Amino acid sequence: MGIEKTYIMLKPDCVKRGLMGEVISRIERKGYKIVDAKMMNLDEAILKEHYAHLADKPFFSEIVAFMTSGPVLGMIVEGENAIKGMRIIMGATKFEEATAGTIRGDFAHSTRENLIHGSDSPENAEIEIKRFFS
Ligand code: CDP
Ligand code: MG
Repeated sequence: MGIEKTYIMLKPDCVKRGLMGEVISRIERKGYKIVDAKMMNLDEAILKEHYAHLADKPFFSEIVAFMTSGPVLGMIVEGENAIKGMRIIMGATKFEEATAGTIRGDFAHSTRENLIHGSDSPENAEIEIKRFFS
């Protein structure tokens, strides 16, 4: 709790569909600040770290193919309780469970291509900000 920084990443589908502005606007309207941002092309090595919890899944290679299919926008987002707060405005991982009014609920029609990543805990936020911004 308190003022937190979280790692947010707009995935290749979000960039390709021209939804970066929409998503950034929602983050700003919520009252969070984007304190750093950069376009990046990810490779398999960084995805093996970032998605280590999924590396043994049969669909991991498809996640890598998707996440390397185009540029992503990495951001550091700051605000009161921003780690949990961003997860709430993102919506559930599975698109069919993501509530209308959330980013995934309004725009995702696939669980893989679900527009946005957000850190899920203070520990992971710190690790992910280091991973992508140092
Ligand atoms: O992104 P989030 O933290 O909500 O979910 P995750 O369980 O950490 O999974 C990371 C990402 O892997 C998801 O956002 C999806 O893009 C992908 N994924 C997938 O393609 N199929 C699944 N069954 C689960 C996750
Ligand atoms: Mg996750």
